[in-house]
Amino acid sequence: MDAPIKSLDGRYYTDPKVFRHETQGLLAETWQFACHSREIENTGDYTSFTIAGENLFAIRGGDNKIRVFYNVCQHRAHQLVKGAGNTRIVVCPYHAWSYDLTGALRAAPNMKAVEGFDKSAICLNEVLTEELLGFVFVNLNPKAEPMETWFPNVRAELEEWVPNWRDLKPLEWVEIPEKCNWKVSVENYSECYHCARNHPTFVSGVVKPDTYDIQPQGKCLRHTTECQALDQMSYDIQSGFAHNEAYSSWYLWPMFSFQVYPGNILNTYHWRAIDAENVVLWRGWYSIDGAEDAVVRQLAVQDRETTVEEDIHLVESVQKGLGSRGYTPGPLVIDPKGGVNSEHPIMHLQKWMRAYYKKETSHDNV
Ligand code: FES
Ligand SMILES: [Fe+2]
Repeated sequence: MDAPIKSLDGRYYTDPKVFRHETQGLLAETWQFACHSREIENTGDYTSFTIAGENLFAIRGGDNKIRVFYNVCQHRAHQLVKGAGNTRIVVCPYHAWSYDLTGALRAAPNMKAVEGFDKSAICLNEVLTEELLGFVFVNLNPKAEPMETWFPNVRAELEEWVPNWRDLKPLEWVEIPEKCNWKVSVENYSECYHCARNHPTFVSGVVKPDTYDIQPQGKCLRHTTECQALDQMSYDIQSGFAHNEAYSSWYLWPMFSFQVYPGNILNTYHWRAIDAENVVLWRGWYSIDGAEDAVVRQLAVQDRETTVEEDIHLVESVQKGLGSRGYTPGPLVIDPKGGVNSEHPIMHLQKWMRAYYKKETSHDNV
C-alpha cells in the first residue's frame, strides 16, 4: 500500500531563498495576468506593472494590437514609462531616445554622428502575450506553449459562460493584503475541505456542497457545483444566457482565477506575490462598459465581508504554523471519489510546484 501523500515542507512557504527561485523560475515561466485590455482602449494607451520582479508595460498600437515590453530603454537601461497614460511615441526620460508603438527605435539624438549606427537593429524587448476574454496574459519564457495547451478548452468554456465578455470592463478591484505565502492562499482557494466549518454561508447558501468538485483540466483546476435555492438569490439571475443557473470557476495555475456566479456574473482572483510571507489578492469585478452596477457592487461587498474575510484568518494562521519548529507536514486527505471533502486539488498543485523545485534544485540548491 502506498503511503499517503504529504503536504509540502514548511520552508517552501517561508524561506526567502525559495521565493527568489520562484520569482526567477516558476513565476517567469508561467502565464501571468498583466492587465485588462479595456484599461488600454485607445491607440497609444499604456499601463505598467511588475511580473516576476520585472517591470513591464502594455501598450496599444495603431494596428489595435496590444504589445507588452520590458520597461527598459535599449540605450543605457533607464525605465521608459511610469504608471499609465497615453502617448504616440515612447520617449526615454534619460537621453530622449524614442520608440514607436511597435517598439522600434525611431530616433536617438545625435545618432548620425555615430558611424555604423543601425537604428533598425534596435527595438524594445517584447514579451509573449495572449488575450483571453479581454484579459491580457504574458509569459516571460519566449518559448512557452500557448495558453490553450496549458489550459485546454478553457477559452471555449469561458466564452460560452460569459457570452457578453466583449462588453465587460473592470468596475472595481478589491485589494486584499494577506500575511502569507502566495501558495498558502492559492491552496486555500483550491480546496473546499475547509468550507463546511469556516464558510457558514457556503453550507446553507447557493451551492450544493455535496456536488462540489474540483478537477484538473491541464494546468487549470476547474471548480463545478450544482446550485440550489436560486429563487432566494438577492439579485435577478435571468441573464438570458446558458448556464445562468450555475456557478463555476477556472483557476489558471499559478496566480489567476475566473469565477462565474449565477446570472453569468464574471469576477476574478489575481494573486500578486510580494515576498515569501506576503501576497496581495485582487478581486476583480466587471460590468457592461464599466458602468455603475448596483448588483456587482453589492456582490463585491458581500464577498469581501464573508468568504474573503473568513479565509484571511485561515491563511494567516497557517503561515505562522508553517514557520513553527513544531510542524511536520501531514498527509493530504485524498478521496479517490473526489468531492468536497477531498484535497486532491492540493495534490495536483503541489505536484506542479514540486516539478519546478526539482528543476531548480538540479542547478542550484533551493
Ligand atoms: S537610457 Fe534611455 S535614452 Fe539613454
Ligand atoms: Fe475558503
